[in-house]
Amino acid sequence: MKTINSLSRRKFAQLLGAGATYAVAQSGVSWRTPLRAADARRHFTSMPAGVVRLSANENPYGPSPIALKAMTDAFSISCRYPDEHADVLIEALARLNGVNRNQILLGNGSGEILKLCAAAFTGSLEPGSNRPVELLPRSRGGALPSFIPGRGKMIVADPTFEAILNHARVNQAEVLKVPLTSSFSHDLQKMLAAANQGLIYICNPNNPTASITPKKEMREFLDQVPRDTMVLVDEAYHHYADSPEYESVIPLVKNHSNLIVARTFSKIYGMAGLRCGYCVAQPEAMQRLRPHQTWDSVNIMAITAATASLEDADQVTNGQRLNRETKKFVTDELGSLGYASIPSQANFIMVNVKREARPIIAALALRGVQIGRPFPALPNHLRVTIGKRPEMETFLSAFRQIVA
Ligand SMILES: Cc1ncc(COP(=O)(O)O)c(C=O)c1O
Repeated sequence: MKTINSLSRRKFAQLLGAGATYAVAQSGVSWRTPLRAADARRHFTSMPAGVVRLSANENPYGPSPIALKAMTDAFSISCRYPDEHADVLIEALARLNGVNRNQILLGNGSGEILKLCAAAFTGSLEPGSNRPVELLPRSRGGALPSFIPGRGKMIVADPTFEAILNHARVNQAEVLKVPLTSSFSHDLQKMLAAANQGLIYICNPNNPTASITPKKEMREFLDQVPRDTMVLVDEAYHHYADSPEYESVIPLVKNHSNLIVARTFSKIYGMAGLRCGYCVAQPEAMQRLRPHQTWDSVNIMAITAATASLEDADQVTNGQRLNRETKKFVTDELGSLGYASIPSQANFIMVNVKREARPIIAALALRGVQIGRPFPALPNHLRVTIGKRPEMETFLSAFRQIVA
């Protein structure tokens, strides 16, 4: 029987969702436990009654009303391929980020961008593994250049968002994990020292620690990384960071041909279920990513909703404010119980429970509160997404019972 430790995030969330409580109580945790059909149906519209989901760093307030309207309007055009609509979103993102249109690539969530980067820039260093490959022309969207397969290892922090690691492994690349520093920032000098082609992945703010890597260190690091080593900076939680020590590195793309910055509509824009993300990079880097991508990988509904979201400034400011207020409430409450959190620059917190976290995660699940999976590098920490205030009150009340 597999344990929670070896579960993927989504399996873990499913497991701890509808129907799982009984299984957890009866037999320990098994990923084989299926959702009952009735529970799965309920999942389509809402969480099962009594379940609070604080496990996937989602935005509990949902998409902008303007995005909801755009999605509804898109029903009637869903018979069409999304080329023109994608162009409109690319144009808007180029304007927003002060870059040219050929410096934006849309992805099926930023998860697809991560996968593309691993595919394009990591791989075996065996001689002969980087022979150029000729590509067939696309029926729409123009020709693809021939491309050189990726070479070299993936360098990541430990802990960090793990999704990209498997993509590199699938590509036969070595994965090197560099522990975070004592202040939970990336150890950029150690990552730099290990660079040899391949890809360095920097998650800033970092998941699962919600910590940032300071802007001065990021700038110095980017100036030093050899140009044949690519750097992917994942800014999924960008909008939640308010420390003066944090900055986005998108403006640095113009002077760094090896820099790619990933963003998502899943967090502040509340569109995790729709799947839309993008990256910003120089055109040459984009040309190396494109051959790996499924044509039209982002659907028309996600594209139109994302485009509309960008017009709703309140979506960002309200989301930031609600997250900030609720995060303060939870961290203050936990602090008064004697449990400190790593200072959070995201929409989740990492709480030091001063003992093994895994049994607490399971005990919370039994009380209908789903929180983040265990992170082996920080075995005494719980990762808790900041939900709505009543959800956090439910979490706190369950937590108090468990640690009492
Ligand atoms: C750091 C980070 N990057 C990327 C993703 C993937 O996001 P999406 O594919 O929904 O854009 C997540 C999801 O939680 C994440 O935490």
